[in-house]
Amino acid sequence: MTTTTATAPGKVILFGEHAVVYARPAIAVPVANVKATATLTDAPVGTGCTIAAPDIGANIRLSSHRQDPLALAVRLAIEETGIEAEPDWQLTVRSDIPIAGGMGSGAAVSAALAKAVFAHSRFSAQHRHTAETVNRIVYEVEKLHHAHPSGIDNTVVVYAQPVWFVRGQPPQRFYISRPFHLVIADTGIASSTAAVVSDVRRAWERDSLVYEDIFDGIGEIVADARQAIVSGDVAALGPLMRENQHLLRQLDVSSEELERLIAIAEDAGASGAKLSGAGRGGNLICVVEPDSVDEVRKALQAAGAAGTVVTQVGS
Ligand code: MEV
Repeated sequence: MTTTTATAPGKVILFGEHAVVYARPAIAVPVANVKATATLTDAPVGTGCTIAAPDIGANIRLSSHRQDPLALAVRLAIEETGIEAEPDWQLTVRSDIPIAGGMGSGAAVSAALAKAVFAHSRFSAQHRHTAETVNRIVYEVEKLHHAHPSGIDNTVVVYAQPVWFVRGQPPQRFYISRPFHLVIADTGIASSTAAVVSDVRRAWERDSLVYEDIFDGIGEIVADARQAIVSGDVAALGPLMRENQHLLRQLDVSSEELERLIAIAEDAGASGAKLSGAGRGGNLICVVEPDSVDEVRKALQAAGAAGTVVTQVGS
């Protein structure tokens, strides 16, 4: 009986969420401190394929939950390997990525499951471009969660690399010439990406000129941020985050709690902060000089953030 393990990291969008759904660029980075881990063990013959996700109390049979997101990831991966009969497998997936917090927990869980299937069936050893296939599978699962995913979440989680992403184009890697620190804080308020993305869509349909202008403004900030990251101008990132947050507020995707924690982080020394992901709840990110990391983190914890993660972008 063999066991295979596969992981996928969390992610944060540094700049460009929401506008990225409307074909503007966005920048996202993996967060390796948090991850989803899938294990796959051969089960006794005739028992079929089951998937357990103890963190959310799920324990499902592949054959009876074909459209469940966990089952869909596994089923699409099995189809890709060419295995025809349902295999006798026990899959278990665990994750320490906050759920519904904008850190890509759903995408990471799907990616870890698909990667475990590929590794166990030796598909990854025999095929080139496995990451592209995992990415395609995870994107299909993302569509169950919301109707118009840009594809950025699955891309950064699957490739586990910083990406410059434009919908419909191959993701581009870019060089981080000077590492910088982020403090990520969880508001503790679950946010449905589907609901927030459809609210923005309705508002865009009503008032497309205004919204297109905001998306253009965000696109320009993202381009400036890329330039700053590539040239090592870390000092420019804080002000760019503030500008991006100003436009996210105009999209009506911020919330009182996000604004309160953003103000606390900036008062405690963050050079800039913004929501990350869909907004309304979920996480905020702060770009922080190394000397201020502890202070910003402590201020956010004292103000009631549900969790904080410190991560370094670049090495
Ligand atoms: C969600 O993490 C990011 C959004 O831009 C939606 C998407 O890109 O699919 C809000």
